[in-house]
Amino acid sequence: MSNAAKIEHLRKLREQAQLGGGPERIEAQHKRGRLTARERLELLLDKGSFRETDMFVAHRTTDFGLDKRKYLGDSVVTGWGTIDGRLVYVFSQDFTVFGGSLGEVHAEKVCKIMDMALKNGAPVIGLNDSGGARIQEGVVSLGGYADIFLRNTLASGVIPQISAIMGPCAGGAVYSPALTDFIFMVRNSSYMFVTGPDVVKSVTHEDVSFEELGGAEVHASASGVCHYVADSEADCLYMIRVLLSYLPQNNMEDPPFVPSSDDRLRTEAALDTIIPEDPGKPYDARDVIRLIVDDGVFFELHELFAPNIVVGFARLGGHSVGIVANQPSVLAGVLDINSADKAGRFVRFCDSFNIPIITFVDLPGFLPGTAHEHGGIIRHGAKLLYAYCEATVPKITIITRKAYGGAYDVMSSKHIRGDLNLAWPSAELAVMGPEGAVNIIFRKELSEAKDPDRRRAELVAEYREKLANPYVAASRGYLDDVIEPRHTRPRLINALEMLSNKRDANPPKKHGNIPL
Ligand code: HXC
Repeated sequence: MSNAAKIEHLRKLREQAQLGGGPERIEAQHKRGRLTARERLELLLDKGSFRETDMFVAHRTTDFGLDKRKYLGDSVVTGWGTIDGRLVYVFSQDFTVFGGSLGEVHAEKVCKIMDMALKNGAPVIGLNDSGGARIQEGVVSLGGYADIFLRNTLASGVIPQISAIMGPCAGGAVYSPALTDFIFMVRNSSYMFVTGPDVVKSVTHEDVSFEELGGAEVHASASGVCHYVADSEADCLYMIRVLLSYLPQNNMEDPPFVPSSDDRLRTEAALDTIIPEDPGKPYDARDVIRLIVDDGVFFELHELFAPNIVVGFARLGGHSVGIVANQPSVLAGVLDINSADKAGRFVRFCDSFNIPIITFVDLPGFLPGTAHEHGGIIRHGAKLLYAYCEATVPKITIITRKAYGGAYDVMSSKHIRGDLNLAWPSAELAVMGPEGAVNIIFRKELSEAKDPDRRRAELVAEYREKLANPYVAASRGYLDDVIEPRHTRPRLINALEMLSNKRDANPPKKHGNIPL
C-alpha cells in the first residue's frame, strides 16, 4: 500500500469512528430529542479544541455474537479540549453503540482520561448516557465500574469532577456521578436510579415512571442528587462552562480572577432597608447577595433542594467566592437535615479548591420536632459544623439578622476560625429568640403578672435591648465590626484581598472522621 493509500485508509477509519453506532442509531438518538456524544462535546468545548484519544479501541468480547459487532472507539468518546482556553478532560458516552453500555474497554478509556487529568491537574467532565454495565461482558464490566469509582474517589478534592446526565444512568452506574462534585441533569430527558421502574414494581408494587422515579426534577428537589437542572442539552453544557469559570484547575491553584467593571467601592443604599422592621417578616437572601456581588451575577446551585439555605458561586472584585446564605423566605431559614447536608458539602468543596467562603447569617435555629430529631438532625447538623470548623480557606461572615443558639456557632462564627465576622445593626445574637427566652426565664413572674401580655411585651423589649443586638458580641471581639449594610460590598472585597495570602492548617492526620 502506498503512503497516500495508507493516509486514505486512516481517513476512512476516522470517518467510520465518527459514525459511532451508524446513521440509523444516530437518527434514533436525534428522534429521542438527544444529541450524540460527539455533538455534545462540540457544544461543551471551545471550537476546534477537542483532541480525541483511543478512537481505534474496540471491545475484545466474543460471547453472544459480539465478535461480529465491533465499533471503533466502542461506546465512549474520550479526550481533552479547552473551555475558555483552559484544559479539561472529557468523556462522553455514546448511546448509539450498545446503548452507551460500559464494558472493559469503555472503562479503560475513561480511566486513562481520569489518570491523565489527575496527573496534569485539570478538571474531568463526564457526559453520561448509558444503559449501565454491558450485560454481555458480565463481571468484567462491573470491574470496569469499580476502576472508575476508585479514580473518582482518589481525584476527589484534587481536581474538579463534573457529571452531566444526558440520558439514562441506571444501576450501580449512578455511583460514578455521585462521587463527583456536581451533577447536572436535563429536564424531561435524563434520569438516574439504582433500580428501575420494573424492579420497583416487583418489589414494592409501586407504579412509577422513569421521570417520577429518577428524573431531573425529582433529583433536584427531593433527593438532592442533582445540583443543576437545565432546560435543554445545550443549556446544560453551557452551564458547565459557566461553573468552571469559578473554579481553579486543581487544588494547588487559586480560582481564576475575572475583572469586572462593577465599582469595587460601590455602596448600595437598598441594603439599608432590605431587612424588614418586623423581625418575623421574611426577605429573599438572594436579593441581598445580588446587590453585593459583581454585576449582580449569582450562580446558584442546588436551588430546588433544601431552599431554606442558598449556596452558589459569585465574584467580588473579580475574586471567585462560594456563598452560603440562610434563606429567611423559606421556613424562616431554619437549619434542617437537608440544608445542613447541602451547605456542608458545598463548604467542603470550596475548602478543597481554595475558594473563599462568604456566609450570610439569618438563622433562628434548628428545625424542632420528633421527625427531625429521629431523622438525625444531630448527625446532619454536625456535618455542617464539621465542614466549617475544618475549612481553612478565607471565611467571612455577615450576620444580617438572627443568629440564635447553636446556629450562631455553626454558621462560620469567630470561634470556629471565621477570619472576619461582621454584623449589620439589625443583627440579634442570643441563645434564643426574645419571646422564647422571656417565656423561660420569666415563667414564674409572667404566671403571677396581672397583665401577662403587657408584662411579656415589656420583658421582650428589655431582652432585645440588652442581648438581642450585635454589640454584646462586638464588645467581646466575637464580631470584628458592625457595619452599615450599604458598605458590605467594599468591605467584603477589602477583606478578601486582606486574606488573599491566608495560610492555615489542620493537625496532620490521614483524614478526619466527618459524621457521615
Ligand atoms: C448491553 C445494552 C445495555 C446494556 C442497552 N443496551 N443497555 N447493551 N448492555 N446494559 C443496548 C440495547 O440492547 C440496544 O441495542 C441499545 O443499547 C439501545 O437500547 P434500547 O433498549 O433499544 O433503548 P431504549 O428503549 O431507549 O432503552 C434504554 C434503556 C434500556 C432504558 C437504558 O436499554 C435498558 O433498560 N437497558 C438496561 C439497563 C440496565 O438494567 N442496566 C444494567 C444496570 S446495572 P441495539 O443493538 O438494539 O441497538 C449496572 C451495574 C453497574 O449497571 C454496577 C456498578 C457497580
